[in-house]
This record gives sequence, structure tokens and C-alpha cells, in this order.
Amino acid sequence: MTTLGTPLSATATKVMLLGSGELGKEVIIALQRLGVETIAVDRYPHAPGHQVAHHARTLVMTDPEQLQALIESEQPDVVVPEIEAIATTALEKLEAEGKVRVVPTARATRLTMDREGIRRLAAETLQLPTSPYQFCDSLVELKQAVTEHIGYPCIVKPVMSSSGKGQSRIDHVDDIEKAWNYAMSGSRVNKNRVIVEGFVEFDYEITLLTVRALNDKGVVETYFCEPIGHLQEQGDYIESWQPQPMSAMAKQRAQEVSHAITENLGGLGLFGVELFVKGDNVWFSEVSPRPHDTGLVTLVTQWQNEFELHARAILGLPVDTKLRSPGASAVIYGGVDAQGIVFNGVDKALQVPQTELRLFGKPESFRRRRMGVAVAYHDNLDQARKNARKAASCVKPGTAN
Ligand SMILES: Nc1ncnc2c1ncn2[C@@H]1O[C@H](COP(=O)(O)OP(=O)(O)OP(=O)(O)O)[C@@H](O)[C@H]1O
Ligand SMILES: [Mg+2]
Repeated sequence: MTTLGTPLSATATKVMLLGSGELGKEVIIALQRLGVETIAVDRYPHAPGHQVAHHARTLVMTDPEQLQALIESEQPDVVVPEIEAIATTALEKLEAEGKVRVVPTARATRLTMDREGIRRLAAETLQLPTSPYQFCDSLVELKQAVTEHIGYPCIVKPVMSSSGKGQSRIDHVDDIEKAWNYAMSGSRVNKNRVIVEGFVEFDYEITLLTVRALNDKGVVETYFCEPIGHLQEQGDYIESWQPQPMSAMAKQRAQEVSHAITENLGGLGLFGVELFVKGDNVWFSEVSPRPHDTGLVTLVTQWQNEFELHARAILGLPVDTKLRSPGASAVIYGGVDAQGIVFNGVDKALQVPQTELRLFGKPESFRRRRMGVAVAYHDNLDQARKNARKAASCVKPGTAN
């Protein structure tokens, strides 16, 4: 039986979010609705999640000592990593000492922050289909891997990076050095290690939101949302929609792969499993042990959106992954490098029928920073996509004068 307390009292159920961007903000809102006391942590002040939590903390989350000290002083019941750049060694230590529960598990956060950990688990331990790959520590090794093993086209990525940072495609031997240098500039940490992957000529790619939650018998069960299709540009998502039409066989395989990887990672919570699909074939790409950016579409397409599903699952509550309506999302980028920007045309955007907006409230805008999203629901998926794009394009970020 799950018991929840009263926030800001001795009985409070306390949840700490490590990373408080737009996805963390929505998780916090879902937790707030259940009367959970929330502590939002991010590396800069006034992050989106800071603005809706009971407590806001600013911290270098990659520093294990600072992270451990914060968790020990705040004593949350549950720690929910929302980003990859976290000192996961501190989480593993505190979890092993029984001081805190990490969602879904400290091991899952460690394995998924590094492309090598999750790729070796998926391809070598679990034997799931993936693109051919090799890890390299120097330009010489990369050249050898590309020319002798992987072939063209292929993609090079720093092992520690996200949102497409440092990632580029190689079509020809002349591209190799540029790709290596670019990867070195985009790595999150000073680690000269990259993965080179054979390019998968997929028909489409999906995120399969997969939830590990307790059923009515108190046993962990795996639930799947309808597949989410998405478009990526420079490694960052610009549009997503749900449901992505799939053949029955491809859908079944996608669920099997997602079940295998999430079962191994364990714990309770929602995962975003990224898969490539061609005909009936499915390749595992990567997995987030947390809500996924392309899943923002579920704000209007599901009875319980991905943030509510995550909140419920981690608290041991039942979940319902049913679709409510087909729908789509379209990203609103900052377009300018400035602080305290304004958003013109919000009224125009919301005149598009069956459409909603989220403006994340980030204090600083960059040209390619995601500042908001438009979401639209419609019986007709194409119309939903058109409406989401239209609403997003009506919002014009700018400076005040
Ligand atoms: N081997 C591949 N073959 C074909 N396309 C690929 C391959 N690897 C990556 N891509 C494309 O690049 C996109 C980003 O790749 P990936 O998810 O590995 O990077 P990322 O930096 O983790 O991005 P994010 O953090 O946004 O998920 C994929 O969604 C896909 O569109
Ligand atoms: Mg990805």
C-alpha cells in the first residue's frame, strides 16, 4: 500500500529532481498534484522546474561531493535524475547505503549517461539488434574503424553527449578528421572517446514510452504507450506525433526490445526507448530512464501524460497508458541569444483549434535552445501535425525593444 504525506509537514513525501528543465518542470507539476513535496535542483538559478517546486537549489550536479551533501541534508525519499550529466557515483553510493531510492535505479542512470554502457548492455549482453558500432580513443583508431569495419555512411558521437552535440555523419574518408575534431568539441567531459555507428537507413524512428509500474497485485508490470514518431534536425527533435503507424510485426518487435532493455535496467518509472524501424525490422538506438523530449506530445494525446505516468510509477501507483487522441508537437526555438526574451503572437498561436502551448520560462534564450512547444490534438494525424507547426510558427520570440 502506498501512503502519501502532507507537503511541508513531518509526514511529507519528498521527491528531489536532479535537473529541472522543461521535462522536470512537468514531472514536478504532476507530483505537486499528488501533494508531494518537491525539491528542484539545477545548475543555474530560475530553471523551469525551480519555478514550480517547493524548494529550488542551484548546484554543480557533476560534483559528487556537492551532490552527496545536498541529498544528505535534504533527505528526500526519492531522487529523480532528469538529465544525464550527474555524478552517478554519488547516487550509487547513497543507494547502496540505503540512504535514498534513485529512479529507476542508480545503475540505470550510470549506464545510460554513457553511450558505451548502454550500447554494450543492449547489443552484447542482451543481444538486441543495433547498428554496427565500434569505440575509438584516437583519430587513428577512428580511421581504422571506419575504413576496415563500419564503412560508409556512418555517424560519430562522443560517448558522453546528448542532443546531438559533437555528432556528425561521415560519407567519405575526407570527413573522418573533421568528425573526430567535432566530436572532441562536443563532448561533455574531457574524455577522448567516441562511438562510430553504421548509418541505419530507417523508414522512420520512434520513441516507445515504456512504463514499469506496480499493478493491482503490487507486482512490477511493463506498460507501453502508443509509439511516438519524430523528426530530428542536427540531433535535436523538432516535431513529434502519436501514434506512429507501424506494422503489427514491427510494433511487436519494438515492444519486445523495449521490454528487454527496461527489465534489465529495473526499478520503477517511465523510459523513452529510441528505436529505428525499416519495414518489419527494428533497431535499438538508445534509452532515457526518464520522460523523453519527444513525449511532450503526450500532454494532449494521453489520459495520463508521460510526466504523470513517471510520477505515478515512481510512487508505486497504478498507471494507464491509453491514448486519448492522435496529436503532434512542434518545438519553439529561441531564435535569438538574449536574456529575458518576450514571446509575440501567443494569441495567434492559440487561435489554432485544439492546440496548447508550453512556454518553459527559461531565463536565457539561445538561437537553438528549446524555449517552448506547441501541442495539437486532432482525429487526423496530418492535421494535428499541421496545426502544431502552425501554432509554433505563430510564436515569435524576440527582445523587448
Ligand atoms: N546509427 C544511426 N543511423 C541513422 N541515424 C542515426 C544513427 N544514430 C543517430 N541517428 C540520428 O541522429 C539522432 C540523434 O542520435 P542520438 O539519439 O544517438 O543522439 P543524442 O545526442 O543522444 O540525441 P538526444 O539526446 O536528442 O536523444 C537520432 O534520433 C537519429 O535521427
Ligand atoms: Mg537520442
